[in-house]
Amino acid sequence: MCGIIGYIGSHQAVPILLDGLRKLEYRGYDSAGLAVAGSGGIQILRAAGKLSNLEEKAYGTAMPGMTGIGHTRWATHGAPTEANAHPQVDTAGRLAIVHNGILENYASLRAELRAAGTELTSDTDTELIAQLLGREEGPLLDRVLRILPRLEGQYAVVAISADEPGELVAFRQGPPLVIGVGDGEMLVASDVTALLSRTRRVIFLEHGDVARLSLDQVTVFDGAGRKVERAVETLDWDAARAEKGGYRHFMLKEIHEQPDAVRNTVLAYLDQDRRGVNIEGFGLDPGRLQKIQRVQLVACGTSWHACLVGKFYIERLAQIPVDVDYASEYRYREPLLGEDTLLIGVTQSGETADTLAAMELGKHAGAPLATVCNVRNSSAWRLAEARLLTQAGPEIGVASTKAFTTQLVALLLTALALRKIRGFEDDVDVRLAAQLQRLPLALAKTLETPDQVYHRGVDLLTATTDALYLGRGMLYPIALEGALKLKEISYLHAEGYPGGEMKHGPIALVDDGFPVVAVAPRTPAREKLLGNLREVQTRGAAILAVAEAGAPGFEGLADLILPIPDVDHFLQPVVSVIPLQLLAYYVAVELGLDVDQPRNLAKSVTVE
Ligand code: G6P
Repeated sequence: MCGIIGYIGSHQAVPILLDGLRKLEYRGYDSAGLAVAGSGGIQILRAAGKLSNLEEKAYGTAMPGMTGIGHTRWATHGAPTEANAHPQVDTAGRLAIVHNGILENYASLRAELRAAGTELTSDTDTELIAQLLGREEGPLLDRVLRILPRLEGQYAVVAISADEPGELVAFRQGPPLVIGVGDGEMLVASDVTALLSRTRRVIFLEHGDVARLSLDQVTVFDGAGRKVERAVETLDWDAARAEKGGYRHFMLKEIHEQPDAVRNTVLAYLDQDRRGVNIEGFGLDPGRLQKIQRVQLVACGTSWHACLVGKFYIERLAQIPVDVDYASEYRYREPLLGEDTLLIGVTQSGETADTLAAMELGKHAGAPLATVCNVRNSSAWRLAEARLLTQAGPEIGVASTKAFTTQLVALLLTALALRKIRGFEDDVDVRLAAQLQRLPLALAKTLETPDQVYHRGVDLLTATTDALYLGRGMLYPIALEGALKLKEISYLHAEGYPGGEMKHGPIALVDDGFPVVAVAPRTPAREKLLGNLREVQTRGAAILAVAEAGAPGFEGLADLILPIPDVDHFLQPVVSVIPLQLLAYYVAVELGLDVDQPRNLAKSVTVE
């Protein structure tokens, strides 16, 4: 994901910016750039691809200046080209900005600027911010305050101006920014990793803050230009921890990256006006797809759970029958497969041996072959004719989190694309496209639940060695995924079951204090699940429920509610899994286990 670094001080900025960008590399990116404000105005250097490309250019270019900004960009919309890389400048070339996040009113701002005769040189929303600033007059800080009401969406921005080379202005709404307070110098970055080699004294900017940095002073304002106080904190983190962006584990960091990852995946496959899916983006041949009679999903592990939800999505929205198979079983069951079946391999890594083998089988049988994959140019990517890239960025924790939620979103988008190809003419895709754009906010809200709530859940789960996870309909796979997360990293035994099936066996396990985790957001079937829960409660179960805070029917039934916001039914699987990831995480931490590298497991299983 994108990274930001800014510097103002008494040293040459370029080597310090490059060092900061190196530290941000772990986030994943596909182009990079930097800009310096010096006596001759603003100088910019950008390069597609690896940071070494930018470094090579920088060695050959004199860029004197002690104020500068740098960026690593992970392209979402707008290809990873030099023109789309940051920094972006205004037409006059007097100011430059770097930006993380996405402007939601991109289309209307772009149209407005174009109508006003502004020539745009990139496909980015970032350039629009630079151009808006360029149209204002006066000091940079005042210009920023004036354009803020025009910006809808999520952003962390750092700006420099040729007219005030002794200043940086940073502002955020959504993505983080942290200021490093150095000795006669100031830095600003998207995470502390990039600052630690120069200072440990930091100021975390809050949502809505605007900060002006000079080489010896930081002043922070709210959006209305009133001064606000922000404390300087001294970090004692070691370097390894800092690489996790301040989180204790990669898994926790990745859980928190889900709003961004999901947003990026959604936006990558919506059409220009964001009112429906962009079929061309999938690379599918609509003519060939119109002939398909069935969809076959193959995957392993967490990706297989995503497929189980995907079956609901595709059958409901595109009205095409779907089969889901473990890739390791599929290849040996002599499946009936031909040109009328669209085979989709769902794989985070794109390197899982069984999934690749199942895809090969499809290829030889002449089936149209697609993949939902998180790694561009991986083996699955190269094997498939149609590809949908989940925009989760690198996932380091072995227990998959953000890869899973982006797979769910990708499969929902696939279902909408197939629906369109099948000729359904109504506004379902417009409605779901709008819901999908609000989904990151619902995920962010879910992540705001205080840790203490989970600690009560940890007490219930660690008091025993087994747990049962229940769900119904498209939330049953989420029960499976919740149970898998707990197993993978806490080594406690957990099973996922459909609520209605629970009486046919697992209920025998239930006695005093036996934990039952219910995935129970508002659905027409919730009453039935509540009935299942009453059955285990009378046998002594301790009940934890994922549901909307204050939802009816849980009083006197659930020992603990893990709250989620009320969202569209199709999006409930994505939101409901978050509390289960966190619950498993906190249990593993409590048990003192290696969360990121659990015993016996591998991130990518490249052997059969
Ligand atoms: C391994 C990982 C799981 C993952 C599975 C499938 O078992 O530990 O987290 O779900 O492989 O991986 P893939 O890369 O194909 O999605």
